[in-house]
Amino acid sequence: MHYTRIASSPVTHIGWGAIEKLQFEIEQYNPTKILIVADPVLQSLGFIDKIIGPVQNKKWQIDIYTDIIPEPTLETGEKIVDFTRRGNYSLVVGIGGGSALDMSKLAAVFASNAGSLIEYLNLTASKTIQQKGIPKILIPTTSGTGAEVTNISVLALEKTKDVIAHDYLIADVAIVDPALTVTVPPVVTAATGADALTHAIEAFLSVNSNAYSDGLALQAIKLIGGALETAVKNGHDEKARTDMAYGSYLAGLAFFNAGVGAVHALAYPLGGQFHIAHGASNAVLLPYVLNFIKDSCSPKLKIIFETLRVESKEFTDEEAAKKCVALLGELVKNIGIPDKLGGFGIPDTAATALAADGILQKRLLARCPMALKESDILKIYESAFTGIL
Ligand SMILES: NC(=O)c1ccc[n+]([C@@H]2O[C@H](COP(=O)([O-])OP(=O)(O)OC[C@H]3O[C@@H](n4cnc5c(N)ncnc54)[C@H](O)[C@@H]3O)[C@@H](O)[C@H]2O)c1
Ligand SMILES: [Fe+2]
Repeated sequence: MHYTRIASSPVTHIGWGAIEKLQFEIEQYNPTKILIVADPVLQSLGFIDKIIGPVQNKKWQIDIYTDIIPEPTLETGEKIVDFTRRGNYSLVVGIGGGSALDMSKLAAVFASNAGSLIEYLNLTASKTIQQKGIPKILIPTTSGTGAEVTNISVLALEKTKDVIAHDYLIADVAIVDPALTVTVPPVVTAATGADALTHAIEAFLSVNSNAYSDGLALQAIKLIGGALETAVKNGHDEKARTDMAYGSYLAGLAFFNAGVGAVHALAYPLGGQFHIAHGASNAVLLPYVLNFIKDSCSPKLKIIFETLRVESKEFTDEEAAKKCVALLGELVKNIGIPDKLGGFGIPDTAATALAADGILQKRLLARCPMALKESDILKIYESAFTGIL
């Protein structure tokens, strides 16, 4: 049997100015008490006032929660869940990057599910989510994670990261307005954009890919490949920001359907052990992982190369695969992300411990077109330390 389940997108308003649909969408839920979730940086930039100001309404009470750190930990998640369980909310509105959106998802769902988050973690779960929880409207302010369309929330653990996954974590409504991303600093634009590109590439290479996810992934690769460098260099470029917003949204849907693979599996320990931003962890590893696995997927790497650049027709699959790896390495450098692990201050003695945690990400490694052993993973980290592809 070769059939698959298609996960579709939530109700979505996407495009420049789409935030004006927030009031309408809130009204659909006729809420009495709303929890707004955002991180403190967004609050200090005036995002909450700007977005919530126009939707203030005597009919509903609004509480604001901002105790969120980037790359949130289990503790960050437990805190917001505790808070929400005491609040009797009828709607959650999450505004921010993946960190704030993932916490909004947990707040909404675990308001109605008992137990601590640790019991629901994918790698070690003993419980399954039973209740849908409170409705949630998610508003991304970075073009990266695709958290507004996926069914996961990511949590940083001591040595690695893990997810809580369930369809109840999918947004009820997503509002994707690229105008909200113009204030994202270049370094965050680069990391979040590289995350989105990695989602699309890994979804396309995934053993679970299909015609539906491939269409989403390739369109995302095209949009992000064409816009990322411009968005990093000129954050006010409306077209680049819009292409990145669509690209990250499509990439999120692509990986929700096909999954991400070894790049994410190896990136998680960098996040857990060294607190490297999720997007930057993926970006630095992307060329090294693809280089190691390229013989298992060279026809697909050729298609990615052709999607990023048109002049590959004269190359064989193998040649194009090599060029694709080199091109992505160049892109990572051009957007200012270190091209070696040493660039993040990580000592090369860390490779063994990183590989020991990387191999635990069975769910992700299972989607990689090449089966990777712990010794292979170690070799990939070692190449990311030497910088030799
Ligand atoms: N749920 C998913 O499907 C999914 C997928 C991939 C990654 N993630 C997770 O998402 C998190 C990362 O999210 P992220 O990459 O979006 O970064 P982030 O949410 O951590 O934000 C990074 C920084 O950018 C700031 N920021 C966000 N929007 C801004 C804006 N418009 N203007 C100025 N500053 C802004 C934030 O305050 C923060 O300091 C990680 O925990 C990662 O593991 C989740
Ligand atoms: Fe990611």
